[in-house]
Amino acid sequence: MQLYTWHKVDTLKAGALSEGRLTEIFVAGKRVGILKRDSTIYAFTAACPHAGASLCSGWVDGLGRIVCPEHKYRFDPMSGRNTSGEGYKLFTYKVEVRDDDIYVGWL
Ligand code: FES
Repeated sequence: MQLYTWHKVDTLKAGALSEGRLTEIFVAGKRVGILKRDSTIYAFTAACPHAGASLCSGWVDGLGRIVCPEHKYRFDPMSGRNTSGEGYKLFTYKVEVRDDDIYVGWL
C-alpha cells in the first residue's frame, strides 16, 4: 500500500476551474501545473522535462495533450507519457477533490 502525502491547494476550487486551461500554482514549495479536462483534474510538474520551459505557458491540443510552448513536445496529463515520441516523461501527481477543494498528493 502506498501512502501519499496530500496537500490542499489554497488558491483554486475545483468548480472554478475552466475546462482545458493550464494553471500553474505552488503547492508545498513545488511548481505544479493543473489541468481540468472532461471534468477530471490532473496535476503535473510545471517545468517541462525536456529543457524546463513552463508548460502552463503552452496549450492543450484537441486530444487533451499538453503542448510545451518551447519545442512543442506533447505530454499526456494523466500518465505523463511523451506522446510526440522524444522519450521524456512528465512527472504527474495524484489529485483528489474533497468538498470542491483540490488536494495534490505525492509519495
Ligand atoms: S522545453 Fe519543453 S519541449 Fe523543449
